[in-house]
Amino acid sequence: MMLGMTSLRTAHTADLGAPALAAARGLLFSVFDDMTDEDWEHALGGMHSLAWDGAELIGHASVIQRRLVYQGRALRAGYVEAVGVRADRRGRGAALMAAAERIIRGAYDLGALGTTEKARGFYAARGWQPWQGPTSALTPSGIQRTAEDDDAIYVLPVSVPLDLAGELTCDWRGGDVW
Ligand SMILES: CC(C)(COP(=O)(O)OP(=O)(O)OC[C@H]1O[C@@H](n2cnc3c(N)ncnc32)[C@H](O)[C@@H]1OP(=O)(O)O)[C@@H](O)C(=O)NCCC(=O)NCCS
Repeated sequence: MMLGMTSLRTAHTADLGAPALAAARGLLFSVFDDMTDEDWEHALGGMHSLAWDGAELIGHASVIQRRLVYQGRALRAGYVEAVGVRADRRGRGAALMAAAERIIRGAYDLGALGTTEKARGFYAARGWQPWQGPTSALTPSGIQRTAEDDDAIYVLPVSVPLDLAGELTCDWRGGDVW
């Protein structure tokens, strides 16, 4: 098997270009059985990290900005979305997350993400911490609990001390709110 040069590129959605965006969308729909158009939309409007093997995209992660309400403050969160590495090319996840974490540490109050069951250990090994308190969302009809997400939210503290047992409320969006 001939392997091309692998490379990592980080760019805002506006600078990726249509072919790279289409490749990222295609990769994520192949990595996640339950990927939706809303999930893809959630990955847009921020910074993408892309792992390329020559002209072939093998990994992707996004950091987008969200507001997370914590102790009465709307924290600026670098929210990680759409982390996926092609099943036959695993081993690039760490580099993709390192790029995302650099962006988070340089620009946000904290990092946050909603993990799949299987990837918990991957994030925990990188220093991400499971949120322990109740989670909720700021919906158009008020704050609503998101109990089904309580065990899936991980944070990366940056500049604001966080009590992981406190309440954490995310801003509103269509599809999965976390
Ligand atoms: C999760 C995912 C992105 C990780 O990417 P990857 O290329 O497999 O990760 P890496 O090989 O770079 O892993 C880095 C380290 O984390 C460890 N690791 C990887 N996945 C892990 C997991 N699920 N649980 C525990 N540790 C894990 C690796 O063993 C490696 O440790 P090492 O540095 O001690 O060798 C990838 O497996 C994937 O795309 N999974 C399917 C989609 C998914 O669940 N994405 C997460 C969405 S929230």
